Amino acid sequence: MKTRAALIYQAPSPWLIEEVDLDEPKAGEVMVKMVATGLCHSDDHPTRSDALVVRERPYCAGHEGGAIVVQVGPGVTTLQEGDHILTPFIPACGYCRWCASGDQQLCDHGRLYAASAQVDGTYRMHHNGNDVGTAALLGTFAEYQVLDERSCVKIDKDLPLDVVCLLSCGVPTGWGGAVHGGEIKPGDVVICMGVGGVGINSVQGAAHCGAAHVIAVDPVEFKRTESLKLGATEAFSNMEEATEFARSITNGQGADSTMITTDVIRSEYVGQAFTSIRKGGTVVITAQGNYGSGMPINLFEISMYQKRIQGNLSGMVSPRRSIPQLIDLYRSGPLKLDELVTRRYKFDDLNQGFTDMLAGINLRGVVVFDS
Ligand SMILES: NC(=O)c1ccc[n+]([C@@H]2O[C@H](COP(=O)([O-])OP(=O)(O)OC[C@H]3O[C@@H](n4cnc5c(N)ncnc54)[C@H](O)[C@@H]3O)[C@@H](O)[C@H]2O)c1
Ligand SMILES: [Zn+2]
Ligand SMILES: [Zn+2]
Repeated sequence: MKTRAALIYQAPSPWLIEEVDLDEPKAGEVMVKMVATGLCHSDDHPTRSDALVVRERPYCAGHEGGAIVVQVGPGVTTLQEGDHILTPFIPACGYCRWCASGDQQLCDHGRLYAASAQVDGTYRMHHNGNDVGTAALLGTFAEYQVLDERSCVKIDKDLPLDVVCLLSCGVPTGWGGAVHGGEIKPGDVVICMGVGGVGINSVQGAAHCGAAHVIAVDPVEFKRTESLKLGATEAFSNMEEATEFARSITNGQGADSTMITTDVIRSEYVGQAFTSIRKGGTVVITAQGNYGSGMPINLFEISMYQKRIQGNLSGMVSPRRSIPQLIDLYRSGPLKLDELVTRRYKFDDLNQGFTDMLAGINLRGVVVFDS
């Protein structure tokens, strides 16, 4: 069938909304009608090659989706037509070492944000005769898409898809970075460096763990103001002031943990975060950097001060565990989601959504299809 999808053929490039051909779902796959998709910074990197370089072209990104199943392929057992689903960016094969040991976010079938084929190596979307690679086996920047059932998490139909779509990436990633990566304890002092669509959820997660101080750092005033509404206790425009404040309330020790959720990670950000933590403290790196970049950290301090640097993928929890858990916290109140959606866009205004993200005027922008 014909549908419309946002593609890039090269970088730098804006998203081009094109008519594409979409195949029928194969065994174990479903066709979905996309209802909404959040605009995560990870979808912007490939358009400018600042952290992710997409080698295959054309490429359809988008991974923070909420959709409705419209067709079920042969052998699908977990989904039916009409089901509402979210699209975590790592599938759950159930059999690899990682899935088998409860770390589904590291599933060997994950393709992260690369322009990939489906798990069987073939493509479902085509443009002018070219196979379209999709981000993370998904490609939610499309009106219809064919997905592996292992990439879909079924949710209740009463949940607003234009809000809970954020549970496909930004919310569990930020929340889990704090809760699981930072292992935050009641009374902790936590710095959240970069409070955009992901980092604001590290703020929420840290507050939920009982941190005494959740110190938000962002150069954008709007982000600082919003973070104070969602759990931050203090907000600063730079790491120097935040670190000075953390030391001033800890007898000079520094923060228990610092989350890095900046737009792109730069090596000096790791250095700043490493300096900001106390002995035995933890830096959690969530933001994406280039393959070639390294970290300027003090090699004496890492062993003699027993400091820890922890990478965070997708909140360090299997999406099939984190999504239902976070839905419960949304329904019962501690997790705010509606407040995270600053602006909604038509699909045709996708580029405007990214322009606004880069201008710092959204906590999260969401594309609502058919709006
Ligand atoms: N590890 C994962 O699983 C995972 C998942 C999703 C996103 N990401 C990555 O997380 C990062 C954040 O994504 P996002 O969607 O929240 O982006 P965003 O653009 O919404 O937010 C980034 C924020 O960082 C702020 N910032 C920039 N430089 C800063 C600095 N020096 N100090 C403090 N704040 C600074 C910006 O003002 C902005 O508010 C991106 O690199 C993204 O690719 C990683
Ligand atoms: Zn994302
Ligand atoms: Zn697996």
